[in-house]
Amino acid sequence: MTVKIQIRNLRPEDYEDIIRIWTECGLHVKPKGRDSKAHILAEMEKNPDYLIGACVDDKLIGLVVGSYDGRRGCVNRLAVIRDYRKHGVAQELIRVCEERLKASGALVIYALIEVENIPSQTLFKKMKYRHHDGLMFFSKRESDEV
Ligand SMILES: CC(C)(COP(=O)(O)OP(=O)(O)OC[C@H]1O[C@@H](n2cnc3c(N)ncnc32)[C@H](O)[C@@H]1OP(=O)(O)O)[C@@H](O)C(=O)NCCC(=O)NCCS
Repeated sequence: MTVKIQIRNLRPEDYEDIIRIWTECGLHVKPKGRDSKAHILAEMEKNPDYLIGACVDDKLIGLVVGSYDGRRGCVNRLAVIRDYRKHGVAQELIRVCEERLKASGALVIYALIEVENIPSQTLFKKMKYRHHDGLMFFSKRESDEV
């Protein structure tokens, strides 16, 4: 199967598909907090170019969310639905996300990947990301929903 995808910014009407795809793909979804409709729509409004979707015939099949802190860019929440995996969709989403983060000025682009997520680690290595030994992720949260 060859897959012809269109890349476009995500829109408010994609919200239900976004949540469904993240859920199906096993990502942590926090619908009462950071993934509430209000929060996602506010993100779309603030950073429209960082919420990026891949579509086949208008159907959303994958997505990624970029973020930029003024120095570093991050590739977040990448997901491709099972039927369309292994066709380069994630690589294209990462490529476009990187392009947009670099256009904002990002000098470093990174991704946080769970230790057991070998497919994603393999993918990022293939995309020339370097694994940093000895780093641990620490965070301080206002609640479990953020
Ligand atoms: C990880 C994921 C995004 C990959 O999407 P994809 O569209 O299938 O990836 P692509 O086709 O663009 O890239 C394929 C490459 O990714 C890596 N890869 C993808 N699936 C893999 C697997 N099951 N095992 C090992 N490597 C894998 C390989 O490097 C592969 O290249 P190869 O075919 O030459 O071996 C997809 O499997 C997914 O949505 N997984 C669940 C959600 C997730 O883990 N997201 C990442 C959070 S950090």
